[in-house]
Amino acid sequence: MEHTTELISAASIAARVDEMAARLDEDYAVLGELVLVGVLKGSFIFLADLARRLSIPHRVEFIAVSSYGDRESDEAGEVRLIMDVRHPIVDKHVLVVEDIVDTGHTLSYLMRLLLARGPASLRACTLLHKPDRRQVDVQIDYVGFEIPDTWVVGYGLDFAERHRTLPNLCELVVDGS
Ligand code: IMP
Repeated sequence: MEHTTELISAASIAARVDEMAARLDEDYAVLGELVLVGVLKGSFIFLADLARRLSIPHRVEFIAVSSYGDRESDEAGEVRLIMDVRHPIVDKHVLVVEDIVDTGHTLSYLMRLLLARGPASLRACTLLHKPDRRQVDVQIDYVGFEIPDTWVVGYGLDFAERHRTLPNLCELVVDGS
């Protein structure tokens, strides 16, 4: 059996997302339209909240990837593209919006993929970052929270598709382990 214990409250998430949106408003104010590329499925709630707090002009795109093994990218860091963005990003200001950066393989793959398409700029934003788990050196421009090496669910993040719609971020505790 498993249970969840709160790591970050819904109120703390909301406050941090406010701050991140304010930073983006500032940083992109003079650049024109921003293309937010949400990484499915985990980022859908974070992206929805972040996008609705932005004052700058923006468009929303989604991209979906999967790692072999499907839980997290494996040691070899093999990541597959499952669904691409709908519109070309050439000459656009692009921000990749991730739920969590763990080993860094997924983000590194996405940044390489999107950079090759000639965007005007390309940055990465993640709600959560597990610095202790990093295997790949990839730049993250905006980080919501740094968290310890633990499995997190809620606010879009799942464990085997469960707990994704919890309003807060919780640590998944497997009882008896
Ligand atoms: P990375 O390629 O190892 O950085 O893994 C990133 C992906 O693994 C994320 O987009 C999530 O889908 C998944 N992931 C990593 N850690 C967690 C977690 O604690 N909870 C839920 N999903 C996670």
